[in-house]
Amino acid sequence: MATAILLVGGFGTRLMPLTKNTPKPMLTVAGIPVTEHQLKMAKAAGITRIVLATSYLAELFTPYFGDGSKWGMQIQYAVEKSPLGTGGAIRNAAKLINSSESIVILNGDVLSSHNLAEQIRQHEAHGADVTLHLTKVEDARAYGCVPTDPNGRVTAFLEKMENPVTNQINAGCYVFNPRVLESIPLDTVVSVERETFPALVASGAAVYGYIESSYWVDIGTPHALMNASTEIVNRDGDFLIMPGSKVDSSARLTGGSSVAGNCQVLAGALIDSSIIESDCSIGSNAQISRSYISKGTKVEDGAKITSSFVTNDEIISIP
Ligand code: GTP
Repeated sequence: MATAILLVGGFGTRLMPLTKNTPKPMLTVAGIPVTEHQLKMAKAAGITRIVLATSYLAELFTPYFGDGSKWGMQIQYAVEKSPLGTGGAIRNAAKLINSSESIVILNGDVLSSHNLAEQIRQHEAHGADVTLHLTKVEDARAYGCVPTDPNGRVTAFLEKMENPVTNQINAGCYVFNPRVLESIPLDTVVSVERETFPALVASGAAVYGYIESSYWVDIGTPHALMNASTEIVNRDGDFLIMPGSKVDSSARLTGGSSVAGNCQVLAGALIDSSIIESDCSIGSNAQISRSYISKGTKVEDGAKITSSFVTNDEIISIP
């Protein structure tokens, strides 16, 4: 069965200050870290072995995920002393995998419900070098786009442009033939999107697209992060409270808000369309709307917080 590498070592600068002390993939979406959503998605596709490719704040993953047994998975860690870029990170993590089977790569900031098992199946049926999940977006101008021929073969990797030739974009989940990974140089900074993929296509390698436009979101920007969490919560109700948190019966949660574990929400608090990370305390009659409250933050009684990122040190308006 395929092994997966999760790329979780980026700086996440677009989500500062949330990412000052928490790596982007460890940010909370609908009560649990983004990476945990991905583990569940990978497991549903039959993957039980994962390598986390870490760098920035690498030490924060192991205490949470350990050896993976809590999720019925085997998790290993490949740590880059300094970030090697997406391609360098994949190459470095692949050193831990000695297998002739397909290797799945997941960008650590994407939530996707596409059929990964089918992506792997098509990759193997084509005998492909790489198969990328491609999704269609309404407006592709903000993305590089990836055209394919009628057989699904990728014909180019195009940079962002005003008039995209297709609305198919790289969705950040790849299946690699392990031999192809070995062509990426070791201990070198490489971008898989800007260097490896265009070079493979130019050399005539068998690079295929797996096109599926089911639920997909890149949580790398503030609004996408907030929307992803409230949308996921809204699938099953108006709010979510994780086990181990105490919410006073007179407090009101709404708009897809989530409260992660070990929090306390006091009497009369109102939390709308917001994400509360673990270990927070929300004071009585506090009003929090469309905001992200970081791990361990104490919100004062009666505080009014709107459209803000809140850490223990600062409150900034969501850009
Ligand atoms: P921004 O700084 O906000 O652009 O975020 P980012 O640094 O996370 O970059 P980007 O969104 O382009 O990265 C896509 C995925 O690859 C994310 O899950 C990152 O964690 C991961 N990633 C990016 N660069 C590296 C790296 O050098 N090493 C590792 N291990 N992962 C990386």
